[in-house]
Amino acid sequence: MRKKIVAGNWKMNKTFGEAEKLIADIAASLEGMELKDTEVILCPPFVYLEMATDIAEESKFRVGAQNMNDHDLGAFTGEISAIMLNSLDVKYVIIGHSERRQHYNENHEFLAGKVNAAIRHQIQPIFCCGEILAEREAGTHFTIVKKQLDDSVFQLLPEHFKQVILAYEPVWAIGTGVNATPEQAQEMHLYIRETIAEKYDRQIADDTTILYGGSCNSKNARELFIQPDVDGGLIGGSSLKADEFIAVVTSL
Ligand code: PGA
Repeated sequence: MRKKIVAGNWKMNKTFGEAEKLIADIAASLEGMELKDTEVILCPPFVYLEMATDIAEESKFRVGAQNMNDHDLGAFTGEISAIMLNSLDVKYVIIGHSERRQHYNENHEFLAGKVNAAIRHQIQPIFCCGEILAEREAGTHFTIVKKQLDDSVFQLLPEHFKQVILAYEPVWAIGTGVNATPEQAQEMHLYIRETIAEKYDRQIADDTTILYGGSCNSKNARELFIQPDVDGGLIGGSSLKADEFIAVVTSL
């Protein structure tokens, strides 16, 4: 059975003190909760990862990074590798977020390299895909998402693809307050699952966790998460306040 996940993508937010408090508050709330088969993942900025993994050791959440380089080590000033993340006990990494594709020109080839590096070092990629508004309006959203998967993750061998978590994040929904409707999310998630079945097999498709991301909050999470092919969420703005984030977790 596939895992259900709520992951918080903090992006470039919080000072060290604020981050420590937010993590402590979330950890305290999770303490009293019965999470069953739900995994809670926090993805703070790189500089807070060690603090987060220290707290996570005694808590019910896991830690993910928001990015990483495609090389293992060497002369890449300012970059962070999968080996480094692994050495901090970071188990997940967000790859292919639309903000990185857009602001840092991360292309399919670079993203495929990152996915491969993560897998090489036992870190599960949370691979993001999703169309911009003009593509949805032009009716090309399925083709765009399929190409993003084809170019960056479908190059993996089946046993490696099984490590990948997918996140469908329509770009027009990210940080806009306009979420995809539950019907739009379900339609795309089902399409993605069928595409995986075609590329690999039915079992792998059924076992793949596909998260929804884009203005998902405590008010709309339940109706999104109840969709049969939506296995949780990648949460941006609503992951920055403990109460709000926990309300999203309990919606799953
Ligand atoms: P949002 O961001 O929840 O603020 O829309 C989601 C994301 O970018 O992962």
